Amino acid sequence: MVWHKTISAKALEKAGHASVKVGDSVVLISNVSGKFYAMNGVCSHAKCILGDLDRENLKVRCYCHDAVFDLQDGKMVEPPFVAPNAPLDKLGLNTYPIREENGFIEVDL
Ligand code: FES
Repeated sequence: MVWHKTISAKALEKAGHASVKVGDSVVLISNVSGKFYAMNGVCSHAKCILGDLDRENLKVRCYCHDAVFDLQDGKMVEPPFVAPNAPLDKLGLNTYPIREENGFIEVDL
């Protein structure tokens, strides 16, 4: 495992979620009631940056065409409104191990 340091745990707690650059990747990291989630932060439909978090249901909605992804496993659970027949099983996003270490959030890509 190669852990990459991102933002401070305090900053994530305050913001709730953040898109961070890790190498060449954008990763969406979230803190929902003290539990951390990390997933690819770029929508699999047309590459928009994700970020409209639904904390109650652990989902994130893409700002561009409203596709919805599950924070826990990265699966697309609602297709983009411009592609209602999109193959949901082929459009999931990677999720990553995430941890807090010495006051910072780290992810393993
Ligand atoms: S780019 Fe995300 S739904 Fe289209």
